Amino acid sequence: MQSSETPILITGVAGFIGHAMAAALLSDGRGIVGLDNLNAYYDPALKHARLARLREHEKFAFHRLDLTDEPGMQALFGAHEFRRVVHLAAQAGVRYSIEAPGQYLSSNIAGLTVLLECCARHGVQHLLYASSSSVYGDTEQMPFAEKDAADRPRSVYAATKRAGELLAYAYARIHGLPSTGMRYFTVYGPWGRPDMAAMTFADDLLAGRPLKVFGDGRQRRAFTYIDDAVKATLAILERGAPAGRPPAALYNIGSDQDAELLEFIRILAGEMQCGCEIEFQPEPAGEMRATLPDTSAMRRDFGFEARVGLKQGLREFARWFREYSQQAVREPELRA
Ligand SMILES: NC(=O)c1ccc[n+]([C@@H]2O[C@H](COP(=O)([O-])OP(=O)(O)OC[C@H]3O[C@@H](n4cnc5c(N)ncnc54)[C@H](O)[C@@H]3O)[C@@H](O)[C@H]2O)c1
Repeated sequence: MQSSETPILITGVAGFIGHAMAAALLSDGRGIVGLDNLNAYYDPALKHARLARLREHEKFAFHRLDLTDEPGMQALFGAHEFRRVVHLAAQAGVRYSIEAPGQYLSSNIAGLTVLLECCARHGVQHLLYASSSSVYGDTEQMPFAEKDAADRPRSVYAATKRAGELLAYAYARIHGLPSTGMRYFTVYGPWGRPDMAAMTFADDLLAGRPLKVFGDGRQRRAFTYIDDAVKATLAILERGAPAGRPPAALYNIGSDQDAELLEFIRILAGEMQCGCEIEFQPEPAGEMRATLPDTSAMRRDFGFEARVGLKQGLREFARWFREYSQQAVREPELRA
């Protein structure tokens, strides 16, 4: 079988980015095996709704599996001839890592190590895995470049993401497992994550509640639309494994047009046609003041540039959010 014909494994397939990646590949006729433990970090109903969309495709198979279930993972790799793996499962979220650090160590370090073992032992030719802009941590250097040291994390989440990159490097060095780490910058869009700004604010806007803004709202983010994040990931997947020695690469994936959180809220409220009142709260530990990627490596190696601006992206998001929340209200009524 040619490597392009074997199914691609996507971990975290019921998650925000995993589901969007799987949808893009399935629409292109690729076979996808997806795994996810469907945990309750946020409402699993949203994960089930994402999966229902993917199940409409014939070439999609789903396994409910935890990354740390080593026998289960080995059996999955034994049953399929995966040549390419896109690893997006993780315990995400900066704030929750203050409350529940153990979850981050389990999924992002122990779980990742099980996955790396499986990839190394079963002949995977390219592992793509999600890292995060948060690895840049305490630094005055802006924009963030892949060559920066990234050794002063501001949260347990960031520390586990950086540890993940180092583990992937070690597996490339020891076993020659080719890998590319994708440092995503604040991804938003339809089917997004309820713990992130777009969805929490949209929820409050629709309900007429004041929006809780942590800090002064002047923090800057490189808000990146989901379609741009998927396009960049697809470009890396299609081009294949990195050629260096060891074959391990890292790329920033983000928009180079950053914006203040207050600007993001102003545009979102406009697109949702809602009035908006803001309640400022103390800034929590772990938050970054600003994130801005140096995007020159993605441009040089893949000709990739993020194209969707905040206004267009938030318009698409607001349209989806209204529909999804009406459906979510209707469904319990239908079941009653
Ligand atoms: N969304 C962003 O802005 C962003 C930014 C930077 C990095 N990332 C990274 O991108 C990846 C995808 O993020 P997302 O926003 O789609 O998050 P998400 O929480 O929506 O998706 C992650 C999925 O992984 C699953 N999962 C978690 N632990 C697991 C385990 N031990 N075994 C099996 N499945 C498990 C969850 O159930 C979830 O469906 C993550 O690695 C995240 O850290 C995301």
